Amino acid sequence: MSTFYVTTPIYYVNDVPHLGHAYTTIVCDTLARFHQMRGDDTRFLTGTDEHGQKIEEAAHKRGLTPAQLVDQVAPRFDDAWKTLGIADYRFIRTTGERHKRVVAELWKRIRRENPDDIYLASYQGWYCVGCEAFYTESQLVKDAEQWVCATHKRAVAWLDKERSWFFRLSRFAAPLLAHIEAHPEFIRPDAYRNEIVAFLRSGLRDLSVSRTSFAWGIPVPEPDPEGLAHVIYVWMDALTNYLSDLCPDDGTIGGPDVARYWPEALHVIGKDILRFHAVYWPAFLMAANLPLPKGIFAHGWWTVRGEKISKSLPATRIDPVVLSDALGAGSAHGRAIGIDAMRYYLLREVPLGNDGDFTFESLFGRFNAELANDLGNLINRSLTMLTKFGAEFPPAFDAAAHAAEGPARQLEQAAVEASAQAVACFEAVQPSRALEAIWRFVGVANRFIDQTQPWAMGKAKDPALRHTLWALRASLWAIARMTAPVLPAASQALRAWIGDDGPLAWPVAREGSVLVHAPANLGSSPPSPLFPRLDDKAQAAILEKVVGLAAVPTPPPAPATPEEKPAAATIDYDAFGKIELRAGKVLTAVAVPKAKKLLHLSVDLGEAQPRSIVAGIAEAYAPDAIVGRTVIVVANLAPATIRGIRSEGMILAAGDEAILGLSALDRDVPPGTRVR
Ligand code: MSP
Repeated sequence: MSTFYVTTPIYYVNDVPHLGHAYTTIVCDTLARFHQMRGDDTRFLTGTDEHGQKIEEAAHKRGLTPAQLVDQVAPRFDDAWKTLGIADYRFIRTTGERHKRVVAELWKRIRRENPDDIYLASYQGWYCVGCEAFYTESQLVKDAEQWVCATHKRAVAWLDKERSWFFRLSRFAAPLLAHIEAHPEFIRPDAYRNEIVAFLRSGLRDLSVSRTSFAWGIPVPEPDPEGLAHVIYVWMDALTNYLSDLCPDDGTIGGPDVARYWPEALHVIGKDILRFHAVYWPAFLMAANLPLPKGIFAHGWWTVRGEKISKSLPATRIDPVVLSDALGAGSAHGRAIGIDAMRYYLLREVPLGNDGDFTFESLFGRFNAELANDLGNLINRSLTMLTKFGAEFPPAFDAAAHAAEGPARQLEQAAVEASAQAVACFEAVQPSRALEAIWRFVGVANRFIDQTQPWAMGKAKDPALRHTLWALRASLWAIARMTAPVLPAASQALRAWIGDDGPLAWPVAREGSVLVHAPANLGSSPPSPLFPRLDDKAQAAILEKVVGLAAVPTPPPAPATPEEKPAAATIDYDAFGKIELRAGKVLTAVAVPKAKKLLHLSVDLGEAQPRSIVAGIAEAYAPDAIVGRTVIVVANLAPATIRGIRSEGMILAAGDEAILGLSALDRDVPPGTRVR
């Protein structure tokens, strides 16, 4: 029996799950399901990354302690994966006791095995809290006299001579290059391997692996001679999750699960965090004299209208649960089928490794053409034939007919081929190509019905119909199983309909044929379309549900209010009516020089000219994050001049001192629409 161990990155808890997170999790889930079906000893790990400056800051912004924030948000990831039917995963949190012990143990082990690989010095340089990463100027972008992180498009912070423990990363460029050369599958796809090779060849600088300026982390397990309290760098902490989940509770690095699973580990990650996984992590492991994981597979980014789906761009945030609910609304199986359709789209639309732009046109297109038409029609037509003629011509394998060259034989060959290709592609972490192979077979099976015309055979009372029906049912059987890693709910329904109640294993060839395993009896449930076609009305309803929600930023958890505030005096209806609130679309946003709180916006209120509005939201929203959004504007506020700029209105936002959220409408309405 082979072993398969797959991991997702652990997600930051300053955010709640969106389609980007769901993508990685679904890829890993699909691989885990496939390997499980192949009989491999399979383990699948996901979880949350809960320490570091970013989480500490996010908590403070919401008036929570870091511990309160992480306890609120971590279950939202676990719940989302449960709701999305993610199978048999383990969930790790970096605030867990065992994990903390293992991280401290890893540090001590490096100090034991290679004492000079960690030393004290002082760090001076740039830090991006968004990435939790140190950068040289050559890795940053200059924007209006400021150094800005290329990923977060935010100014980086200057850390001035912070005393810190360093990891001797510079020592590992050569051993890492040697490892990559000896194991070409260590970093996939090739383009990412080349990127890392080039980075290693340019030489590595030692890495600061502790911080003293905040406390939310795992303490460094050795004293600083000057008495400073250090916490371990959050990436060293986070990366160790992949190992710590395999270790015994006392934190020892070892034991049966480490021996069994660790050498097989496959880390599936987004391309944004490749360097941490392909350089830092293996270097830490080498320094500790521990084996490296088997491989790292980086996938690309999903964008919406060209913008990366991310926390800072609310308009890109698609909630995977809302999307699957909306997609499954027309099916008797509801959300479960919506989840399948979402999984299918994400996995089929782009080869793993490439970027992909999420569009409803392509989603609806694939749903209707490939799920409702290709697969749905095949299922409906086959089941109709089997139900209609099955009693008179019970499906039966006919060795002589099978041996003869003809459509049934071609069908079988196509199934064998599709199965072999799908296996090779799933093993090579190429789910899009596996689906292509399976759908080629779906096409062959549809043509088989056209060619053999079972309805005509039935009418003509042709006894060969028994073998034809047998072949049809066997094809459904093979398809139900081959699609199971990607479409778990559809596969299960189909298997029930065709009476396939055996253990869910890959349709392996026996006696040179995949089809001989076909089940004997039709199941009893009457079939209803699994993927009912999405007509214009259904498409509009989906858009309304999903885009309406995507436009609204997920509200941060409400800060605890320690004391009751006295109720404000009431105003009458007329007084309220005097305030003219209107929907306004933000057209442009730029920072106001020398005013760190202010953004200068132009806002479309449906008038001849956009309004110029100065808003005190710059600390909470990057300019990019609000362009394109529809906000609520107080349109009849007397104009004022702020920092020399005319301000012709006010936009509504939540928060007293700090801005906690911006007003928004949950769907697009024409600019200028009155809000009451
Ligand atoms: N906490 C770190 C990872 C530590 S792993 C030891 C982190 N977390 S994250 O919450 O930002 O999630 C990162 C992962 O989410 C990405 O690597 C990627 O797998 C997934 N994605 C987040 N946004 C995404 C897209 N827009 N598109 C595709 N995947 C995305 O980084």
